[in-house]
Amino acid sequence: MAPELARGEILAWLRCDDPKRLERLWEMADQERARRVGDCVHLRGLVEISNHCARLCTYCGISAAHAALKRYRLSRDEIMACARRAFAFGYGTIVLQAGEDPELDSQWVADLVGDIKGTTGLAVTLSLGERAPDELALWRARGADRYLLRFETSDRGLFARIHPPHNDQAVCDRIALLRTIKALGYETGSGIMVGIPGQTRASIARDLALFRELDLDMIGIGPYIAHPATRLGREGAPAAGADQAPATEQMACIVVALARLACPEANIPSTTALATINSAHGRAHGLTRGANVCMPNLTPPSYRCLYEIYPGKAGSQGTPEDSHRSMLETLAALGRPAGQGPGGRRRA
Ligand code: 5AD
Repeated sequence: MAPELARGEILAWLRCDDPKRLERLWEMADQERARRVGDCVHLRGLVEISNHCARLCTYCGISAAHAALKRYRLSRDEIMACARRAFAFGYGTIVLQAGEDPELDSQWVADLVGDIKGTTGLAVTLSLGERAPDELALWRARGADRYLLRFETSDRGLFARIHPPHNDQAVCDRIALLRTIKALGYETGSGIMVGIPGQTRASIARDLALFRELDLDMIGIGPYIAHPATRLGREGAPAAGADQAPATEQMACIVVALARLACPEANIPSTTALATINSAHGRAHGLTRGANVCMPNLTPPSYRCLYEIYPGKAGSQGTPEDSHRSMLETLAALGRPAGQGPGGRRRA
């Protein structure tokens, strides 16, 4: 393992607001990225298979509380067509993401995973929310390779405030669930939003320590973006005083860079939220400040505008071809090749 960054050093970077000094952080993260995971950028085809959600997360535009939102669920055939397209574009991985949709029953998902693996051989990443250990085990047995579940914040009080209970269930211990996912043999991904009202820089330093403690294979980090159709977006929440982390591109990039230094072998995407908050340069900034993965959106155009977890989501108007082309243009401008094959976690 790489030497651990001192907590004081992490906090100093999280509190740095001097663009000149930050250049040094971007450079360290970029060098570590090049040394540990190379120059290739792995492309993961993202398919948003359902925007149904049983949860009431106060920040998320597809939460059950958003009663006016039209809901959709892709058919098996529609998803298979997306998988074939991912394969045709040369991607090594397909990511199936959804709200927490109870109708996506375990057997249906298991059969889908089996079909995708059988016909395309793609690596399959699932991002279907908090699911039961026996379902996670079944999907793994049918060939699912990776699972993504952001813990959003390691501050338990803040987590509980933004994830109100539903169906009388206690707040899920996502950190325990991530350990279960890892024990099942999945490559395991997690991550956070940066700048949630009430989130301090000190708590982000703890998030970074937790990324390392969990030995995450994938780490997704994006700025919090207020959505007017959500409770948090409408009403806001008290800031955490002077140590409140801002929901800015710069702050999100600092966390991406520190995640690369803390977990040098992890696959780290330059997230859609980063590309949303800075449409001209966000994606490229992520890739030059520690990230080595992009997730072009393959969701059919008629559905993708309904997967609006935050407003103005990058790519929500285009086609899969548009997403593909724009990714390749970004990579070409940076002189970074697209990765070949599944692009799983490399271990030193
Ligand atoms: N702003 C930024 N990111 C968000 N997510 C959900 N809602 C928002 C928002 N308003 C992120 C969460 C979730 C991921 C799929 O999208 O981190 O895990």
